[in-house]
Amino acid sequence: MTTVLILNGPNLGQLGSREPEIYGSATLADIGAACEDLGAELGLEIALRQTDDEAELIGWVHEAAELRLPVVINPAAFTHYSYALRDAIAMRTAPLVEVHLSNPAARESFRHTSVVSAVADGTIAGFGLGSYELALRAVARLLSQADGPIDRGR
Ligand code: DQA
Repeated sequence: MTTVLILNGPNLGQLGSREPEIYGSATLADIGAACEDLGAELGLEIALRQTDDEAELIGWVHEAAELRLPVVINPAAFTHYSYALRDAIAMRTAPLVEVHLSNPAARESFRHTSVVSAVADGTIAGFGLGSYELALRAVARLLSQADGPIDRGR
């Protein structure tokens, strides 16, 4: 069974109590459980990780590239300024979907820039826990298209 890494950046370990009016009440464990349920439906194994450390996150992206593992990534604040993370993601060898709980485009202007979007297959933002579920479905779709021509709809 294909393993999908679901990688989470800084402050996402605090979900549940972190600004629930913005990020909702689901904890990271809730997100993991929802992804595992959906993964079982889609035939995907889920490995959910979180770190506040940029180097650790980049190490996991390297691991995914080496092992050809698909990734769902919420880079959190690194989204907006980490060129190091962006360069690591550019080395990916399997589908990768950027995800956000909130809709950064509707928030402060510093959140309007994502330095990682251009090296992801796509971005899903604004649906809370549902963003992760949609991202997992997008990964499943990309994997199923991997043997044939990819219609990215653009
Ligand atoms: C976030 C949005 C980012 O702007 C913010 O820094 C986060 C969470 C989201 O999931 O909505 O930490 O990635």
